[in-house]
Amino acid sequence: MDITPATAATPVADITPAYYRQVLGKLPTGVVAITGVNDDDERLGLVVGTFQSLSLDPPLVMFCVDKSSSTWPKLRKLQNFTANILSDDQVSICRSLSRKGPQKFEGLPCTTGPLGTPHLDGATAYIDCVVTAEVVVGDHYMVVGAVTNMNEGTGNALIFRGGKFGQYQPIEIPAPEVARSAS
Ligand SMILES: Cc1cc2nc3c(=O)[nH]c(=O)nc-3n(C[C@H](O)[C@H](O)[C@H](O)COP(=O)(O)O)c2cc1C
Repeated sequence: MDITPATAATPVADITPAYYRQVLGKLPTGVVAITGVNDDDERLGLVVGTFQSLSLDPPLVMFCVDKSSSTWPKLRKLQNFTANILSDDQVSICRSLSRKGPQKFEGLPCTTGPLGTPHLDGATAYIDCVVTAEVVVGDHYMVVGAVTNMNEGTGNALIFRGGKFGQYQPIEIPAPEVARSAS
């Protein structure tokens, strides 16, 4: 599969990386472990906050990965992956898979999904995908996956905002007052 360069002209704004992070850090994201396994049975994984639903018909998802990632070039070769939506008790798993280096999976219990990719025990959902497109955009690759299978797991999704992990908290909106009759 070719990696398509983005063709749109890119206007350059005078924005520092720190300010970019500060402003974009206001937007909470999920925390998703992208996992695969190579021919030597080596489990591969990295964490993204950029995972998104992209299309319902056909079902497509997407995420963006930094060009400096050392794990993505290995995952790319496999052409399939599982997006494990991490739950709010999996911060330590996020830390293991987001650090650079080998043995990221040591002590992480997994089962094998239908594509042969690792499903991390305790994730809140598993989305198995085949890579259908990859576009170079700025300093990232934007990866599109066609969903081949999906399962719900347990718990609530872990949330990341402004450099901190958090938990989903629904807003309790009081029920509207029932109009009283004037009798
Ligand atoms: C909460 C969180 C979100 C992240 N989101 C992304 C992301 O969307 N794209 C990305 O390339 N890296 C992201 N990272 C960084 C990678 O997980 C990770 O540091 C890097 O890929 C590991 O290095 P390696 O790919 O060389 O193994 C994120 C890290 C954390 C902790």
